[in-house]
Amino acid sequence: MNNFDFYSPTYFVFGKDRENEVGSYVKRFGGSKVLIHYGGGSVVRSGLLDCVKKSLEEEKIPFVELGGVKPNPRSGLVYEGIDLCKKEGVDFVLAVGGGSVIDSSKAIAAGVVYDGDFWDYYQGKRIEKALPIGTILTIAAAGSEGSPDSVITNEDGMFKRGATGDAIRPKFSILNPALTQTLPAYQSAAGVTDIMAHLYERYLTNTTEVEVTDRLIEALLLTMKHEGPRVIDDPNNYDARANIMWAGMMAHNNSCGVGRTQDWASHDIEHELSALYDCTHGAGLAVTMPAVFSYTMNHNVMRFAQVATRVWGCQMDFEHPEVTAKAGIEAFRHFLISIGMPKNFEELGAKEEDIPKLVDVLCNGDGRGGSVGGFVSLNADDCTKIYQMMV
Ligand code: NZQ
Ligand code: ZN
Repeated sequence: MNNFDFYSPTYFVFGKDRENEVGSYVKRFGGSKVLIHYGGGSVVRSGLLDCVKKSLEEEKIPFVELGGVKPNPRSGLVYEGIDLCKKEGVDFVLAVGGGSVIDSSKAIAAGVVYDGDFWDYYQGKRIEKALPIGTILTIAAAGSEGSPDSVITNEDGMFKRGATGDAIRPKFSILNPALTQTLPAYQSAAGVTDIMAHLYERYLTNTTEVEVTDRLIEALLLTMKHEGPRVIDDPNNYDARANIMWAGMMAHNNSCGVGRTQDWASHDIEHELSALYDCTHGAGLAVTMPAVFSYTMNHNVMRFAQVATRVWGCQMDFEHPEVTAKAGIEAFRHFLISIGMPKNFEELGAKEEDIPKLVDVLCNGDGRGGSVGGFVSLNADDCTKIYQMMV
């Protein structure tokens, strides 16, 4: 195991009706004027936005609102939010929604206290300072409620990049699984896929002797394998929603990723798809992961064989471990299809003729050094072959 620091200071508030306490948590973490940031309307329709406003009013905390965050959140609204916060003297950003809303809130919170262009952070500059952020999560997926990361799409060229820094870890996150019961099945399945991707990105490591994190990841993958189909069958299954919601947080606050190298090739390859086609991140990952895994399998066949036996119930073929490794990748692919995820470019809405453009932005675009992936370093030629496998 490698040396590591682990810092995860977010205060989690979990369970039924806990969103009604939001005003007291904003106060506790120093907010005196709040930006409520939200998406395209689901929180208006569900009545959640009204609950939030009521709770802030009860604590006599003034607020301004900015809705309209799109999935794959855009830079334009971030600039608007920064201007609004400066003009109104906002000192706390409250994200009410999914990963897109949380990531847009993080970008605004960092941009308000920075003299330069907030996009500098999405080109590699580490975020050291930001307004405090709180979240009320409405979809289990991205894990942004407990992560130091934010992913934004730059409208000037439509490419998607990430920024990071402990300053943008939420001060508190309210997780009520019942709030996720209104999700369409496709979004629930995409969330399950993204959570499993965060686990696989960490599982694909070149560090040896990492039994504790291997076992944690396997436990969370098994949980998703069990609970994913249950929420697709019954969207109102609170207990399945609850297990998925907490697994989503644990998958991405890095408690399973410490002390080991990680991959993130699938995420980088997918981010160009969601930037170009505006597809759902989890759906893009469902098409990307089996291709990346098949392409990189021979780098460490035993790692893929291990997850195949421990998570996917495959029989170990000791003479031909590559057969077991392949069977595990196939089992995962079938699982993703069974919960309603797309299996190829066509089902995702992507086009084969765009592959050169995708590869160019992926490997040579803003802030990139020619290759992606921490498990196997993948250059433009490798990425071209991987996109072709997804057709
Ligand atoms: O905009 P509204 O109307 O709220 O609708 C949203 C949106 O259309 C809807 N939705 C959310 N909660 C709902 C609901 N509909 C009904 N009932 C509810 N309770 O779901 C749609 C998707 O929402 P979004 O926030 O985009 O989903 P998700 O949480 O999957 O976030 C995806 C974004 O997070 C980034 C992705 O790249 C993508 O841009 N990621 C962020 C990470 C991070 N910050 O650590 C890591 C991830 O790997 C990921 O890259
Ligand atoms: Zn993800």
